[in-house]
Amino acid sequence: MFDFRKSVVYQVYPKSFCDSDADGLGDLAGVTAKLDYLAWLGVDYLWLNPFFVSPQRDNGYDIADYRAIDPRFGTMADFQALCREAGKRNIRIMLDMVFNHTSTAHEWFQKALAGDPVYEDYYIWREGGPDGTPPNNWQSKFGGSAWAYVPEKGKWYLHLFDRTQADLNWENPRVRAELRDVVRFWMDQGAKGFRFDVVNLISKGSYESDGQGDGRRFYTDGPRVHEFLHELRQSTFGDDPEFVTVGEMSSTTMEHCYRYAGADTGELNMVFSFHHLKVDFVGNEKWVLVPFDFQQLKDILFSWQTGMSSHNAWNAVFWCNHDQPRVVSRFGDEGESWAQSAKMLGTVIHCLRGTPYLYQGEEIGMTNPGFTSLGQYRDVESINHFHILRDRGLHEDSAYAILRVHSRDNSRTPMQWDATGKAGFTTGTPWIGVTPNCDRINVASQLDDPDSILRHYKALIALRKRYDVVAYGDFQPLDPRHPSVLAYQRQHQGDTLVVVNNFYRKPVQWTCPVDLTGFTCLLSNYPGSTPQTTLQLPPYASLVLYRSAGASPRTPGGAPPLHPARG
Ligand code: GLC
Repeated sequence: MFDFRKSVVYQVYPKSFCDSDADGLGDLAGVTAKLDYLAWLGVDYLWLNPFFVSPQRDNGYDIADYRAIDPRFGTMADFQALCREAGKRNIRIMLDMVFNHTSTAHEWFQKALAGDPVYEDYYIWREGGPDGTPPNNWQSKFGGSAWAYVPEKGKWYLHLFDRTQADLNWENPRVRAELRDVVRFWMDQGAKGFRFDVVNLISKGSYESDGQGDGRRFYTDGPRVHEFLHELRQSTFGDDPEFVTVGEMSSTTMEHCYRYAGADTGELNMVFSFHHLKVDFVGNEKWVLVPFDFQQLKDILFSWQTGMSSHNAWNAVFWCNHDQPRVVSRFGDEGESWAQSAKMLGTVIHCLRGTPYLYQGEEIGMTNPGFTSLGQYRDVESINHFHILRDRGLHEDSAYAILRVHSRDNSRTPMQWDATGKAGFTTGTPWIGVTPNCDRINVASQLDDPDSILRHYKALIALRKRYDVVAYGDFQPLDPRHPSVLAYQRQHQGDTLVVVNNFYRKPVQWTCPVDLTGFTCLLSNYPGSTPQTTLQLPPYASLVLYRSAGASPRTPGGAPPLHPARG
């Protein structure tokens, strides 16, 4: 039986993973073709981004038919084959359920537009101001007003994302029943898990204007969201341990996540939260260039670890996904310390309490592509914000510099399988450019190299399965105010894990507040690392140190002694 706490999830962005039919777009058969690789890596679940029928305005997050596969990605037979073949390798398939909104091309919205009152009530319509202004000042997450006007109706509909992504009216029981049926449909086809897209936005509160704000406080973690999630679960996967569920939580709070992902609250297994990935923003504004705030990053990661743990709730832990830039470019080093920093970043995540999510290409240290012109971008959010930045008077070069750091397309370039011009992704013309460093950074070369980033990730995944303390241990920060070291301790039934990371290029000497007598080094990114209470940490050094209950010289079976924390 799969235990999501001992599992690792690998995220496949199907469009950019592997193209089996040379049309330049990855597809389901391409994913099936790579299952042996994924099984070798040791992952338990594959989360696939949406591959349903969609105009692709937001790369599939604008769904026009929840039950049909976009022919560009394959057929239902391809999906069933994928589930079957994955199952043979002990891998399960998780699907992405985009239930906050549909595409305006969806039949429901088209019927609403045509005046059918039943379907009109599937969406959120409001009258605007007498002067032609929208119902309130809420902003779309992709820029501009969150309302679009339909002259034939004389009303506005809400879209928290693109104007072609109309928000569903979850207050309407028929909508909720429809969405439950969609979940059951995919359960019947072989899905074993679900990721629910921006699911904490489904319950809107009051439709008030938000002063200087963008409206998010009125619809984030809204009044009926827990009730809706509870109902969804009870009427579909229920308590079946076969299914794993994760909710993507936008701008959420920890208090809400205790409930979304509490062991006994009957909602979801775990949550994605994003506060730790806003440490290179200014407030909520991501289209800026500022260095990341290391102290803030640690404070957020650590407070979520301890908070969720003390409330018996479970985190999904991750750096990367299809909306985030590549982590080695973001918090690591693309240059001389590329491999060391990529391994260190992997270690930080994979030894935390929670289920690690690994995004395609992260396991080989893929970098941001460094695009230089708007024509290279595909992402609606990036293109919109480029224009917004230009309208604000920013020079073109500065706008590109911001996109190169923050664009979601940074992670959407083709998976780098080998050193060929198209990275082994396709023999056709890829839908988005291949990162030129594929000749150097690719799976083929790292498979052969015992010291590669890929091998390090494989070792990290194996650690979680082999050592219960990695999966089940509690969490305690170590020396949390240190300016360059990120370290923590995990304990479970007398076993102790100490994880030490130098987050920077500058070497550092660090004295561990835990007495490291009796510890062994399970994994490091430098050869010959030995546990010593005072450690010399070279650039981006990372060590996973372990002592089993039996090996503890002073406190057999109990907690190891703690030195008082420094400073
Ligand atoms: C989520 C998805 C993102 C998408 C948005 C709207 O944040 O991860 O890619 O654009 O929801 O569906």
